Order: sequence, then structure tokens, then C-alpha cells
Amino acid sequence: MHRTETAAFLNQKGGVGKTTSVVNTGAGLAILGKRVLIVDLDPQGHLTSFLGIESKEIDKTVADFMRGYIDPRQAIISRPLKARFCIDGEESPLSISVIPSSPGLVELESFLFSSPDRESFLRKAIAKIEYDFDYILFDCSPSLGLVTMNALNAANKVFIPVQTEYLALRSLEQLIRRIEKVMVELNNELVIGGLIATRFDGRKVLSRNVLESLREHYGALLLNTIIRENIVLAESPRFGKDIFSFRPRSNGAQDYLNLALEIMGRVAAAENLFSVERGVITGNRDYRGIAESGRMLENYESLR
Ligand SMILES: Nc1ncnc2c1ncn2[C@@H]1O[C@H](COP(=O)(O)OP(=O)(O)OP(=O)(O)O)[C@@H](O)[C@H]1O
Ligand SMILES: [Mg+2]
Repeated sequence: MHRTETAAFLNQKGGVGKTTSVVNTGAGLAILGKRVLIVDLDPQGHLTSFLGIESKEIDKTVADFMRGYIDPRQAIISRPLKARFCIDGEESPLSISVIPSSPGLVELESFLFSSPDRESFLRKAIAKIEYDFDYILFDCSPSLGLVTMNALNAANKVFIPVQTEYLALRSLEQLIRRIEKVMVELNNELVIGGLIATRFDGRKVLSRNVLESLREHYGALLLNTIIRENIVLAESPRFGKDIFSFRPRSNGAQDYLNLALEIMGRVAAAENLFSVERGVITGNRDYRGIAESGRMLENYESLR
């Protein structure tokens, strides 16, 4: 059965790498053969401008989409990825779908506030299009307002990017408690997909210490993939490109491809892609998709 993975990338701390992670993990998943939609839920519109989407291109926004006034597909913009990608010697075009943000999200907060069922608007809007995608990623703003609550209600995973910097852990406990409250009161399907250590600089004692504390406190909740500090990750938005289209040989591209693979792998593990039946190890049907993605990865490697 098709199951769409819906994931919110959230941390109420600003500048930790949420938007960078949504764009590049999304692009990584697209390279691995998945149909990906990324949704800009931040009124600052960083994700929208990251991908070079200009206001004249935007007809319907995420606010229209959430209010349910429009056919949800009208809000989706398809962006070709410029990463070169080959399957069986033939180049195959890649694209990612985006729902852009708008300043209207600020007004949407007050509209939601006075509406019944105010945390369910995004979930209802997504339900109309989810079968078109394998992964839907939400880029949240650095706040825990109603739009963010809508993301946590529409998602089945929440990923928390954590910058390996001073004070990173201080607000983390509070955030996790808040998410656990949402799990109990609002969305029983929600699980924490993992913490993503970002902007790691192995030369800095502080970076290493923060990573160590994250491992100590959160164990398996910390994803294995560490996103290193890499200047090209900060440069790519100026060119309107994801990291694979901008610098496919960079550490940033390698790290985000690993992250996309790890996220796919964790999903696979959670869905019991293998089982042992009467002593025989059996891969279920979804496994074939993952195996094909592995083959695609080899092709991707050969292009780098
Ligand atoms: N691994 C990295 N290496 C170098 N720079 C990075 C890295 N990750 C993110 N950055 C840069 O750090 C800044 C903050 O990143 P980003 O915008 O992704 O964070 P955010 O959590 O979405 O911020 P906000 O809370 O404002 O939405 C950006 O300038 C981005 O280019
Ligand atoms: Mg952001």
C-alpha cells in the first residue's frame, strides 16, 4: 500500500539549517527516485527564494492552499533540478515540487486562531494530493505558532535540525517536550524521525563537544549522518539551486545524499521491508523500490 511520508523540519531556534535541510534532503530524495513535494510554511519565504522562485511566478500560495479555497494542485510549482543524473547510460530529468510561501501566512495565523479545528487545515489540504508524492517535507518557521502546529498535525515524522553550537541543547529539551505533548493531544501518528546535527566543524572543540552531548543524551534519536559546515551550502541559494545542482562534488552534497538515504532506510526499517517467514528471509514488495534506488545511487556516484 502506498504510504506517503510527511515530515516536518522543526526547531524554534532560528538559523539551525531547517530550510537548507528541507531543500537538499528533498533534492536528495528526488535523486533517489522519489516523488517529492516541499512546502514553505515560513512567512519569511526563505525556501521559496532559495529555489529562485520569484513573486511573479507565484499565483497561488501556501496560505490559499491551507485555507482550502483552491484546487490544491494550483499551488504547486514544479522545478527541474539541474543535477545531472544517469540511469542505464541515459540522462534522466529530475524535478521537485514546491508550494511557495507568502506574507499572507501571517494573516493566516489569525484566521486559524478564530477557526474551529484550527490545527487541521494543512492535514485536510494535504490529504487531497498526498497520493501524488512519496515524500512531503514541511519547512517550518522558527516559531511554534498555529501554522507550525498544523505542520505537526499533518506530519507523521518530525526531524529536528540541531546546530552543533553553543546553547544548541538548551532549548532542545523544551522543544521535545512540546512535540511529545502534540503527539498525545493532537496527532497520535507523529513520531520523532530524528535529530540532525548540522554545521558540524570537526576542528572546533565546541562542535565536537556538542555532538558528544547529543549522542549521550539522545542515543539512536540522533541520526548517523552529520551535516558538516560547508560554505557552498550557504552559497547555493544565491544561484537558486539545491546543492546537487550547484556543487555535486562537495561535502554538502555527499552529506545530504547520505541523509536522504538514511531517512529512506529508517522508513524502510520501520515498515518491516524484510520479514522472516518459516525460516526464509523475505523482502516485501516495497523493497524493490529501495533496491532500485541503490542502483541509481551507483549511477549518481559515477557522475561525480
Ligand atoms: N552545513 C552548513 N554549512 C554552512 N552554512 C550553512 C549550513 N547549513 C546552513 N547554513 C547557512 O546557515 C544559515 C541558516 O540556515 P537555514 O536558513 O537553513 O536555517 P533555518 O533554521 O531555516 O533558519 P530560520 O530559522 O531563519 O528559518 C543560512 O545562511 C545557511 O546558508
Ligand atoms: Mg528557514
